[in-house]
Amino acid sequence: MNLDLIFDPSYWSERYTTGRTDWDVGAITPPLRDYFMQLGPPDARRILIPGAGNSYEAEYLHSLGFTQVFVVEVAPEPIAAFQARVPSFPQEHLLLQNFFALSPALPYDLIIEQTFFCALPPTQRATYAQKCAQLLRKGGTLMGLLFDADFGPRQEPPFGGNRAEYETYFAPYFDFVHFERAYNSIKPRQGRELFVCLKKK
Ligand SMILES: C[S@@+](CC[C@H](N)C(=O)[O-])C[C@H]1O[C@@H](n2cnc3c(N)ncnc32)[C@H](O)[C@@H]1O
Repeated sequence: MNLDLIFDPSYWSERYTTGRTDWDVGAITPPLRDYFMQLGPPDARRILIPGAGNSYEAEYLHSLGFTQVFVVEVAPEPIAAFQARVPSFPQEHLLLQNFFALSPALPYDLIIEQTFFCALPPTQRATYAQKCAQLLRKGGTLMGLLFDADFGPRQEPPFGGNRAEYETYFAPYFDFVHFERAYNSIKPRQGRELFVCLKKK
């Protein structure tokens, strides 16, 4: 497979329309839920969820009362499903576009990562780290989960990796608050995920 295709929204649309969405666990995962629970009272901090798919994290944050939650996603199908599931979520916070082309008027305070990084062609990983840093305010947080697993040579996502490799991408822009094996991953991902919390320098 030509890895450039993974940047083509039609590739992702096809995965949703044919139901090849094995990454989608149908609910928020415990590491993200537990992190969100300790964010404190809901406020207007700007939160971005890139490659959010069915956006269970956005739904959860919205239900907690966070008002400035944004989703960026290239495939219209999960966005439409999310709108139908959570009609009270502000439509203007659903950004149907390429994450790498985002150019917001205001920086974000928090970016949430889950199975977006591993869906990108690995050649884009350094650019992902740079883009996250560009989108965050100084002191802003990039948090989430990264696979700490070797999936072998693959034609399609997910693409694996390890902590030492990832550190090289994030170290130029971020201080590492947490970059350890997650203890509360969902069962199929146990022992294969890093819980990541990085502060923009
Ligand atoms: C593996 S899925 C993960 C979805 C979601 N994070 C989850 O855990 O269920 C990757 C998602 O990233 C989206 N995507 C891929 N490239 C993108 C890009 N450049 N900008 C925004 N979304 C993108 C895909 O459409 C897909 O929904």
